[in-house]
Amino acid sequence: MSTIEKKAWWKEAVIYQIYPRSFMDSNGDGIGDLCGITSRLDYLAELGIDVIWLSPVYSSPNDDNGYDISDYRDIMKDFGKMEDFDHLLAEAHKHNIKIVMDLVVNHTSDEHAWFIESRKSKDNPYRDYYIWKEPRDGGAPNNWQSCFSGSAWEKDDATGMYYLHCFSKKQPDLNWENPAVRDEVFDMMNWWCEKGIDGFRMDVISMISKDPDYPDGPVKDGLYGDLMPYVCNGPHVHEYLQEMNRRVLSKYDLLTVGEAAGVTVDEAKKYANEEGTELNMVFHFEHTDAVSNKGSVVGKWTTRKPVLDDIRPIMNKWQTELEGKAWNSLYWDNHDQPRAVSRFGDDSTEEFRVLSAKMLATCLHMMKGTPYIYQGEEIGMTNTRFRSVEDCRDIEEINAYRQYVTDHHMVSSEEMLKCFETVARDNARTPMQWNSEKNAGFSTGTPWIPVNPNYTDINAEKALADPDSVFYYYQKLIRLRHETPVIVYGVFEPLLTDDHNVYAWRRVLGDQVLTVACNWSDQDVSCDLFENLSDGSEELISNYKSHKKGVLQPYEARVILSSLS
Ligand code: GLC
Ligand code: CA
Repeated sequence: MSTIEKKAWWKEAVIYQIYPRSFMDSNGDGIGDLCGITSRLDYLAELGIDVIWLSPVYSSPNDDNGYDISDYRDIMKDFGKMEDFDHLLAEAHKHNIKIVMDLVVNHTSDEHAWFIESRKSKDNPYRDYYIWKEPRDGGAPNNWQSCFSGSAWEKDDATGMYYLHCFSKKQPDLNWENPAVRDEVFDMMNWWCEKGIDGFRMDVISMISKDPDYPDGPVKDGLYGDLMPYVCNGPHVHEYLQEMNRRVLSKYDLLTVGEAAGVTVDEAKKYANEEGTELNMVFHFEHTDAVSNKGSVVGKWTTRKPVLDDIRPIMNKWQTELEGKAWNSLYWDNHDQPRAVSRFGDDSTEEFRVLSAKMLATCLHMMKGTPYIYQGEEIGMTNTRFRSVEDCRDIEEINAYRQYVTDHHMVSSEEMLKCFETVARDNARTPMQWNSEKNAGFSTGTPWIPVNPNYTDINAEKALADPDSVFYYYQKLIRLRHETPVIVYGVFEPLLTDDHNVYAWRRVLGDQVLTVACNWSDQDVSCDLFENLSDGSEELISNYKSHKKGVLQPYEARVILSSLS
């Protein structure tokens, strides 16, 4: 039997991620904005979420849609002004919704004032704000490939030296070894906290400390070396986060979640330790990367869909190994991933789309950890179509296409577009589908990225009019979490771990037991977990109104609350 662990509001909360560019356009320029978000707070309050995670809204030349920041204390022109932000924050708080900011401090934009200075000369006071190296044999200092294709190093003509950019060449990496950089970042964070924001989602925070030797990486695609082993979970990362915790985080009541590429369970126990010396929780990538390295065409580009046997061992490992030591975050998708229902569920028919979206939601929200919903997931939005590379807006896709299709002929255009339809980030970035009017009600102008053509069938207005919609199912899951401590704090115990179709487990808190079973297949499958329920057992939620004895129907999910005694 378990004891109640440390309670915290961020353990009990449900987070909703907004990608502002694609959420709601208030002024008809085709780009979502802050006033657009404010205008939809009633919708979010109806859904019942506690927190908005806002993808970056700071000044940016938008090489990577705001993940390249040129001024941390100002708002991107496309999104509005600082007073629009202040208004959004105040209105969100009136709706009892907190706001968590995206903190992108592994790198800045090359248009940030620090970098403009840094590149001027070797003795500029800002030189050491970034990572500069001399050429090796007249070329790049090592063989690292940037996460957005091509070399991770860019030669700068002013001094003939190279700077490191783990992402695009317009995203130079900050040098966290320099105490002045840490001072600047922590000052800026305190400035936002003083404004009253409620937390930070920290972009690629596991990458802020690099291997000081900068060794060549293993070559996988015949072109460049892998940099991840040398930039993730580096020698000083925990020291820097503990300093951040002392100088900023511990002074406020915040939610903190680190995006932690390359994180293992053991590393996560440090980042998200229960003592609270670093962060509240991290995002790992093991389930989203489960098949990207198996049978991939090249790099992360694959057409393979994961099955339950790929996913369950990963999720169960994180559930059981963090128990009592660190807190989990739970997500199926975000702005960097394809749509959950298309990747892990089944969007082949309308019936299966709705059933599997609800099944996946049940699965995630009944695990232990803080659940994240990505905009549109709550209405079961799906992946989109890519007729040609012209349909792509994302720098990751455009660069990968150039490298693998155009320059090196390693993949055909058709194959690459199929991979895009399976895993490209733009699948998540098509405009939020509000209604069946022009541009899905997102904008009166031309949207910056094409709307998914299925918006007349899948949209929020339709969902709100249908009591059996995916929306109301999410609403119920959120309400149940707020009412039922075992959903938040119950210990996770895996069940039926050899079943290829049924994902099942229990959650136990005191004498309360939650039994969860989810059928990941499109067939009836046998399952006797619910055959001998004790008296007083109660079905908390299911995506089917009637059940078959000893059977779970296609994509059926059931959650039963009972008492141990
Ligand atoms: C993170 C962001 C992603 C961005 C990258 C570089 O992974 O989520 O959108 O491209 O960092 O900032
Ligand atoms: Ca706009």
